[in-house]
Amino acid sequence: MNILAIETSCDETSAAVVKDGREVLSNVIESQIPIHVEYGGVVPEIASRNHLIKISAVVDEALKVSDMTFDDIDKIAVTYGPGLVGALLVGVNYAKGLAYALDKPLVPVNHMLGHLSSPLISYKDLKPPYLALVVSGGHTYLAKMLDYTTVEVVGETRDDAIGEAYDKVARTLGFDYPGGPKIDAASKIGNPSAVEFPRVYLEKGSLDFSFSGIKSAVLNYVNSQKMKNIVFNANDVAASFQEAVLDVITQKCKTALQRFNYDKLVVAGGVAANTRLREKLDALSKEIGVGVYYPEFQYCTDNAAMIGSAAYFLEDSDDPLSLNAEPGLRL
Ligand code: KG4
Ligand code: ZN
Repeated sequence: MNILAIETSCDETSAAVVKDGREVLSNVIESQIPIHVEYGGVVPEIASRNHLIKISAVVDEALKVSDMTFDDIDKIAVTYGPGLVGALLVGVNYAKGLAYALDKPLVPVNHMLGHLSSPLISYKDLKPPYLALVVSGGHTYLAKMLDYTTVEVVGETRDDAIGEAYDKVARTLGFDYPGGPKIDAASKIGNPSAVEFPRVYLEKGSLDFSFSGIKSAVLNYVNSQKMKNIVFNANDVAASFQEAVLDVITQKCKTALQRFNYDKLVVAGGVAANTRLREKLDALSKEIGVGVYYPEFQYCTDNAAMIGSAAYFLEDSDDPLSLNAEPGLRL
């Protein structure tokens, strides 16, 4: 089964051809980061316009790299939410047009299920059930992955997503968008014990997260140092922030794994690329004897291959021409 998948939910225009849900034959990603960097974040209107400009060429390239034509494609898959509405609509309408013109089935895919499917590409024998940690720019979830398409959320952020907190703290420290990778790099040379930032665990036993407090704590720290004319070390602040949020994430993963008796933890989303997160979860894996699975780096941030992987396990739409973008779609 060859699926042509399309992803345009945020600032990457991507198309991929995925065979049988696990074999990536092509994964073309046209990133708009260089365009949005001067604004310090994604500008929705500019994102949709650029998806529109690139989508045809990106799909053509995905077919070319996989050495296929439309005749070899069995189904079209597309991200229909969550994301930026204008950006999503470009992919959804393009995919609807393709499916109609080629008379092929259309599979609508939840972007977050796509992230959750990304480790399946690298670990060919990985099968649910397992605990999933989704850490991206827009979402933070702990979920029970009951089968390939059934997800039960057991914890989520009550305010900012983890990637959003990384990006906002990075901006406070003067790093470019997207800030996550910059904080990752800065933390490698910074001292994680330099500043004691709060670890927010919420109520006892809760698996939910809250990252807006630490974001404000970093802002307050930086402003107070500046007012006192004290030169602070941005690498130390980055490392201290990161250590605080990752302590909480690691602890909540431990609690959930033990509470639900899982022996596998699957991590997905852009922040799954983070070096220190991987170190801490690898340590947890040794401590309590669970397997931890990460997507390859190229499948951590947004890409169409993960959408093609998820689509393999999903049903075709029975009314493809009525498919609409759902910016607030939940897991
Ligand atoms: O999954 P993703 O591409 O987009 C969403 O679906 O939201 O995630 C993007 C997020 C951004 O916040 C970015 O700063 C963060 O992932 N990110 C990282 C790293 N690489 C990307 N955060 C921390 N460390 C990284 N190495
Ligand atoms: Zn994403």
